[in-house]
Amino acid sequence: MHDVFDAIQEDHRRVKDLFAQLAADGGRPDVAVELVYTLVAHETAEQELIHPLTRQADEELAEERLAEETKAESALAELEDLEIGGSQLKAKLVALRDDVVAHADHEENEEHPRLRAAVPANQLQRLAGMYELARKAAPTHPHPGGPQSATGNLVLGPMSGIADQVRDAARSAMRDG
Ligand SMILES: [Fe+2]
Ligand SMILES: [Fe+2]
Repeated sequence: MHDVFDAIQEDHRRVKDLFAQLAADGGRPDVAVELVYTLVAHETAEQELIHPLTRQADEELAEERLAEETKAESALAELEDLEIGGSQLKAKLVALRDDVVAHADHEENEEHPRLRAAVPANQLQRLAGMYELARKAAPTHPHPGGPQSATGNLVLGPMSGIADQVRDAARSAMRDG
């Protein structure tokens, strides 16, 4: 049965694939945007739906994952004012790859097996639906009238806006589900 960790692991594969595309094809702007929005939405959804369960099962494990995510969030926040399609954005994103991949591997190898053993399977299946609703709340491309750089090119804009949309969707899915 498809559970929330299958959905999360799909996202991890997508993120790794986007990093590979970014490194390979000269950094198409839509790849960089999808990567950033996916990362912000993914980590926010995990924090809403998964890490509270991790904390109940193993406080230290939850703290380790959150510390990695806090570090990634501040790195992503530094990209907010960078031009989409600019070389700086690509270079800064590529520099994040090793930490992001290591974080995903820690989740898959430690957190997911721990929670699959601790949480009933039907709860993890229900969480998959909530996770997907939350993830879909994130934008896939920048708003055409969104924030611009001094030279008039679109920038990524505030990560907190994306996180808020995903957090609201996760909370309302939990209320309904
Ligand atoms: Fe995470
Ligand atoms: Fe993750």
